[in-house]
Amino acid sequence: MKVLMINGSPRPESNTQVALDEMCGVFEAEGIDVECIAVGKEVVRGCIACGGCAKLGKCVFDDIVNEIAAKFEQADGLVVASPVYYASANGTLVSLLDRLFFSTPFDKAMKVGAAVSCARRGGLTATWDELNKYFGIAGMPIATGQYWNGVHGRLPGEAEQDLEGLQQMRTLARNMAFLMKSIAIGREQFGLPEREESQMTNFVR
Ligand SMILES: Cc1cc2nc3c(=O)[nH]c(=O)nc-3n(C[C@H](O)[C@H](O)[C@H](O)COP(=O)(O)O)c2cc1C
Repeated sequence: MKVLMINGSPRPESNTQVALDEMCGVFEAEGIDVECIAVGKEVVRGCIACGGCAKLGKCVFDDIVNEIAAKFEQADGLVVASPVYYASANGTLVSLLDRLFFSTPFDKAMKVGAAVSCARRGGLTATWDELNKYFGIAGMPIATGQYWNGVHGRLPGEAEQDLEGLQQMRTLARNMAFLMKSIAIGREQFGLPEREESQMTNFVR
């Protein structure tokens, strides 16, 4: 069982990473492998809506997005974590997620998703909402914790003092582990839910 974590922060002593590290401790205790990728310093361009991925099965820009795609396909769960920039997820991460979710043809249904945000003061829940949208459109069950998963901190490492935030991260990781394990059992016993061919109606009259 494997979890892939994506951290949008460009900072070496990232507060967002403090939150992810707290989750890692729980996953380790649960016997779940984790790979964490920090993308904040990468140059990640936005989607140009060329539609090339529909033919190629991957993004036409062969960069970190395609590297992460291969890891995402193998993962049972995905944690997406972002520093809050102007009450939103940071731009690099948003560009990466737009292209990652749009360009990958593999089935993401029943991979468990969890969103985490980190801010000095404001915008945590707006960012959390924003990140959850990627899971919602992909049939991915969303793991939740005991609050809207987020930690506070501004200076490098300051989030270590946010004891409530860190507890949220541990709860979130335990709940996510439970969901992933339960889904694995459910898949064996009942099979995945039936999927209909996708209908796409651009206009409703
Ligand atoms: C461009 C930019 C915009 C920011 N906007 C917000 C904001 O809207 N709300 C907030 O509380 N903090 C804001 N911050 C502060 C960061 O969220 C905060 O420093 C956080 O610890 C960064 O996480 P990191 O250490 O993982 O990079 C902003 C920081 C930057 C660089």
